[in-house]
Amino acid sequence: MRTVVVTGSGGLVGSEAVHYYARRAAKVVGIDNDMRAAFFGDEASTSWQSELLASTYENFQPVTADIRDRDLIDRLFAEFGGSIDLVIHAAAQPSHDWAARDPHTDFSVNATGTLVLLEATRRHCPEAVFVFTSTNKVYGDGPNSLPLVEHDQRWEIAEDHPFHAEGIDESMSIDSTLHSLFGASKVAADILVQEYGRYFGMPTGVFRGGCLTGPGHSGTVLHGFLAYLMKCTVTDTAYRVFGHSAKQVRDNIHSTDLIAAFDAFAREPRAGAVYNMGGGRFANCSMLEAIALCEEIAGRPLHWEYDETARIGDHRWWISDVTRFRADYPQWQPTMDISKTLQSIHDDGVKRWRD
Ligand SMILES: NC(=O)c1ccc[n+]([C@@H]2O[C@H](COP(=O)([O-])OP(=O)(O)OC[C@H]3O[C@@H](n4cnc5c(N)ncnc54)[C@H](O)[C@@H]3O)[C@@H](O)[C@H]2O)c1
Repeated sequence: MRTVVVTGSGGLVGSEAVHYYARRAAKVVGIDNDMRAAFFGDEASTSWQSELLASTYENFQPVTADIRDRDLIDRLFAEFGGSIDLVIHAAAQPSHDWAARDPHTDFSVNATGTLVLLEATRRHCPEAVFVFTSTNKVYGDGPNSLPLVEHDQRWEIAEDHPFHAEGIDESMSIDSTLHSLFGASKVAADILVQEYGRYFGMPTGVFRGGCLTGPGHSGTVLHGFLAYLMKCTVTDTAYRVFGHSAKQVRDNIHSTDLIAAFDAFAREPRAGAVYNMGGGRFANCSMLEAIALCEEIAGRPLHWEYDETARIGDHRWWISDVTRFRADYPQWQPTMDISKTLQSIHDDGVKRWRD
């Protein structure tokens, strides 16, 4: 590849994309303004990651810019023009709960920022593949109406339900559910990316993530589930679990497996494709199971407390069915199960967190 543009290049997904393509493409341009620190405080800043990438790769060009800045983004895309082969758009306000604090900022970053990038791509490099990290929150709280059974350590879907074998597929409706304002801004972006594929014929792909995770996550209370859970375990920080008897289930895909999926798409793109993407049946855990694993790996107990009030619209059970993606890209195989993922987060984070 010639030039790859990555937005949110200091974040979990963006930084993994930079690592991957800096070794394979001639140039990687990373756009990030460390807005994660503005959203969640200094603890969540991604500047450490941006500095690390800049000092590691000579062909990585970091650009401190806001994706909502139309003129600046347009100039940047004009500069690289037709040499841009791939855009990975991972910059976002990523928290379900934070969005209600400042709906204008949430919507402008998630929806308008995506439109700015799509238009810059259409104007300057319409052949470039455009990959968008959407979310399972586009389905709102629809998954909570599935028939769930309470087990000892987790909620599970009824065995006779079609979603039992592989998880929830793309047939789930995005209508008539409670999305949260975050879900609403991501739906807007998700549909825009589909539309640039369908209306303009551009090679765009929407990946509706379950939980995305990995050592590159700057985990904090409001975002970065497994990374923050492990950080609390290691640093003896109290952790609060909200509702669902601590048995809520999430699938968790390691960022390296996610970028491998993006790369498979980038090599053989489709126009306006939509995929649920996550750890699926291969990599999922309940809150109780995740706590037990963190304690085992870190070799110390986590101090956690339980609040009966579930977060508004929070899923009780989500496992992504990745069958559609695997049918289109059979060469893709996830490699990191929950234990390996937590081990990698632990090993990478221990020194940084203690320092
Ligand atoms: N992490 C998850 O569990 C998860 C799950 C589903 C979907 N997603 C989606 O995946 C994408 C990436 O998530 P992540 O976990 O890597 O998030 P992250 O917060 O780790 O990374 C996002 C990066 O974007 C930057 N950013 C935010 N607003 C910006 C702006 N206006 N201009 C420039 N940069 C800006 C932030 O500073 C941060 O470095 C997001 O779209 C998110 O909604 C994440």
